[in-house]
Amino acid sequence: MENKQPSVMDLLIETHAGLERQGPGSPEMTRKALGFLDHLDQISHAADLGCGSGGQTMVLAQHLTGAIIGLDLFPDFIHALNENAQKQNMEKQVKGVVGSMDELPFEKETFGLIWSEGAIDNIGFEKGLTHWHGFLQKNGYVVVSCPSWLTKERPAVIEKFWSDAGSGLDSIEHNVEVLQKCGYQFIASFTLPETCWTDNYFIPREAALKGLLKKYPGNKTVEAFVAENRDEVEQYVKYKQYYGYVFYIGKKI
Ligand SMILES: C[S@@+](CC[C@H](N)C(=O)[O-])C[C@H]1O[C@@H](n2cnc3c(N)ncnc32)[C@H](O)[C@@H]1O
Repeated sequence: MENKQPSVMDLLIETHAGLERQGPGSPEMTRKALGFLDHLDQISHAADLGCGSGGQTMVLAQHLTGAIIGLDLFPDFIHALNENAQKQNMEKQVKGVVGSMDELPFEKETFGLIWSEGAIDNIGFEKGLTHWHGFLQKNGYVVVSCPSWLTKERPAVIEKFWSDAGSGLDSIEHNVEVLQKCGYQFIASFTLPETCWTDNYFIPREAALKGLLKKYPGNKTVEAFVAENRDEVEQYVKYKQYYGYVFYIGKKI
């Protein structure tokens, strides 16, 4: 197993599966977003889409009484979530399933809340909000975070980075308009602080990257993968005033 030539996807999963989260965020910001929702106790079913290993799913579970389904493309992440739920004796409330956010394997109008941190941009903000609308009950909430432009100035290097990653950035104003166009009342939006990127994501990820370099000495694919991840950090440090992760909260009309 150790001698197998890892693909970039293998490395992405190996780096992230052991982390508490797979993108910028924090328990405090998950709680802040939850604070905009009324009647949490009346939500009988919630979904956390693109949940990764479920750092935020477990925070949701501390504040909701209903069932929570975490969904992610990658079995390793779902395995980590289910293991974590079991360790915390929450396996009756929290269940992870493998699936894709753009083809949800659920009945229509199942959920009082659809949550998604740092994941909707993988399928597109508008496409995700449109598809998920049908799975929410009337007056159900959608809460998503995604990278967004914070200024009118848009450095080309950042534009390229995110479009190469498969997700173009849009401004907060644009995303709010899209949310409304997709059939939601706009409730709130707010930008995540820098520590959500640094302390909660880049620093733990760097430790995992160092582990990869040790495990695969001299492997060019691994070295290129690590360099690319480190470039992302450098870009963030240099250009963080222009873009950030933003939470968007809407209510199905
Ligand atoms: C940046 S990570 C965020 C993970 C987690 N929500 C967090 O904030 O720590 C994006 C997640 O979306 C998942 N993902 C990407 N495309 C997906 C899809 N089409 N369906 C389901 N999950 C997907 C990835 O596997 C990854 O776990």
